[in-house]
Amino acid sequence: MVKLFINGYGNIGRRLASAFDLDREIDLVGIAKYKPDERAKEAISKGYKLFIPRSIEREFKNNKLEFTGFLEDAIRESDIVIDASKEGLGYQNKRKLYLPLKKMAIFQGGEDREGKYSVADIIHNSRVNYNKVIGKSYVIQGSCNVSGMGRVIQPLIDHFGDRIIRYDVTLIRRWADLEDLNEVKDSIQWDKSPHHQDDVKDFIPNIKLYVDAYKVPSRMMHLHQMAIRFKDKAPTKNEVLEIFENEFGVSILNSAKGTADIRKKALEMGFLHGDTNMIHIHQEVMRSQDDILKISYSDDQTGMVIPENHLLVQSLLFKKPRKKALLHTDKIFDLSKKKKVLEEEFK
Ligand SMILES: NC(=O)c1ccc[n+]([C@@H]2O[C@H](COP(=O)([O-])OP(=O)(O)OC[C@H]3O[C@@H](n4cnc5c(N)ncnc54)[C@H](OP(=O)(O)O)[C@@H]3O)[C@@H](O)[C@H]2O)c1
Repeated sequence: MVKLFINGYGNIGRRLASAFDLDREIDLVGIAKYKPDERAKEAISKGYKLFIPRSIEREFKNNKLEFTGFLEDAIRESDIVIDASKEGLGYQNKRKLYLPLKKMAIFQGGEDREGKYSVADIIHNSRVNYNKVIGKSYVIQGSCNVSGMGRVIQPLIDHFGDRIIRYDVTLIRRWADLEDLNEVKDSIQWDKSPHHQDDVKDFIPNIKLYVDAYKVPSRMMHLHQMAIRFKDKAPTKNEVLEIFENEFGVSILNSAKGTADIRKKALEMGFLHGDTNMIHIHQEVMRSQDDILKISYSDDQTGMVIPENHLLVQSLLFKKPRKKALLHTDKIFDLSKKKKVLEEEFK
């Protein structure tokens, strides 16, 4: 059995722990906590073993919080670490822990792929380069927006690639996650240089992709509007929807009024953590006009990357064929069932 440790227990780490804990092919060694807070208590109540940095041993003891050991103990015992730390801390963790202890690690989308603080030389997207991560020691799992874009662009390339000139994407990003305590400011903010464009080009080189990103006061998912320019007449709406019907982690909805409708349905249906774990194409606002196709889809920010990390582990450690891995991931996350529920509710 593969031994896996999750370094960080925030919005992403908690979800990773729930998923890998359900997987019988994985032995979850434990999770790392850096503060003796309510989340630490939650992790203990769920039966996870807690590992902490040596420097905060006293704080944990003063708060009477049980822990199993220190970070190094867990990492030494594990075959792989999933780093789910606060954005930008992955580099320091790699230098101080994973490299000296010679451990493989998966980093999240907030880490650098290029430059001085680069943590890995590849960004994974299960729809595009699932097999290419085999043999690597360090891999970045693309962020939720980057994962969503790969999931839409690759099927378009497979079916219409030689007819497409360029992709222009406007990302409308949520301000904070549901569980975040920070204020959602009443403002629309722009991003001078969104990282998403370069990240996607990392696994789809030579693509003509232009991304603008805006942050809006919402906690309910991201929305992407993708405009695809064709050399000639763009394909019809039906031709496009057909190619996405059986795509993994893609649902096609017709009557949701906004992202909150989908999130609320997920919560009402008791989906774990309120996640749909997928993107939702909104067919009622899809347009095919002259040489331009416009696709709008919402992207479950926190849920999207969890099955992606799960697939990445199956490629990196088990070298499983993609089809087999998709079946396994589908079972763990109940993705097909969730898709059915959402498509029925918003038909
Ligand atoms: N949130 C999303 O929707 C989303 C989606 C896709 C990708 N991501 C990426 O996933 C990563 C994690 O995001 P998040 O939203 O889960 O962040 P988060 O909620 O702020 O959680 C960060 C976690 O990191 C822990 N931590 C602090 N110092 C650490 C260290 N040195 N090493 C490891 N962990 C440390 C914190 O522990 P304590 O709680 O004990 O302080 C906390 O549990 C980021 O790279 C982010 O860009 C996030």
